[in-house]
Amino acid sequence: MIVSRGTVAFMFEGSQSEVLTEFLVSARSLSEYRAMFALSPRDLAGRDILDCPGGAASFTAEANRVGARAVAVDPIYATSPNVLAEQALVETERAVAWAHHHAERYRWDFYGTLDAQARVRRAAATRFAADVRVAPERYYFGALPSLPFADNSFDLALSSHLLFSYADRLDATFHVKALLELSRVARQVRAYPLLDYLGNPLDELVDRVRKELSTNGITTSLVRVDYEFHHGAHTMLVADRSN
Ligand SMILES: C[S@@+](CC[C@H](N)C(=O)[O-])C[C@H]1O[C@@H](n2cnc3c(N)ncnc32)[C@H](O)[C@@H]1O
Repeated sequence: MIVSRGTVAFMFEGSQSEVLTEFLVSARSLSEYRAMFALSPRDLAGRDILDCPGGAASFTAEANRVGARAVAVDPIYATSPNVLAEQALVETERAVAWAHHHAERYRWDFYGTLDAQARVRRAAATRFAADVRVAPERYYFGALPSLPFADNSFDLALSSHLLFSYADRLDATFHVKALLELSRVARQVRAYPLLDYLGNPLDELVDRVRKELSTNGITTSLVRVDYEFHHGAHTMLVADRSN
């Protein structure tokens, strides 16, 4: 099935073997980031934070309002704020449709109902759309494994729903390079989830990536969080540079 709205087309292939042919540009909210990454008020206030990939998330917009200095990176930010704003709303409908179509794969208790989850995502996309227009300087074009920042630019880098999620097309080498790059620009990196977008566990990949990071002077830990949307997605990877 191909659905086209505005300038963005998307495809769900076959009901049995549905795959996401392109990266979803999803729109998570600050409340979801707080839960996925176990963020405390101290993790945010006065901190320099990188959200990569930012997608259409409202994290950057909302975190700045609660005292963080947050910026986001994503390859989609190559385009103009007006196009991004439109794309955010269209892609949010694709993400909502995907999740609702596969409702049995997810736990809904964080949101309460499917409709409530859709409201959270639409509100986040709307906030992102407003922020990217009024503060475009917060949204940097870039693509892992290469970031447009000097060493140690951030206290914390957050990476949601790219690493591990798209392990069908991003291999172990990409994951290691991406996490080393995030660790170069930020003292600490948190990545979530550690399952792919179909909900498959990736223990071997996670172990391999952790070993490679360790040989490069990065200490990692697996930390349980109070958020689980895909069944079993209750853990984030935390990577700390030793120097
Ligand atoms: C599922 S969205 C996640 C957005 C946001 N973090 C969230 O949780 O709502 C995945 C994003 O990864 C971006 N992306 C794809 N390849 C990338 C790369 N090499 N480096 C950084 N971002 C990338 C896509 O453009 C897309 O916006």
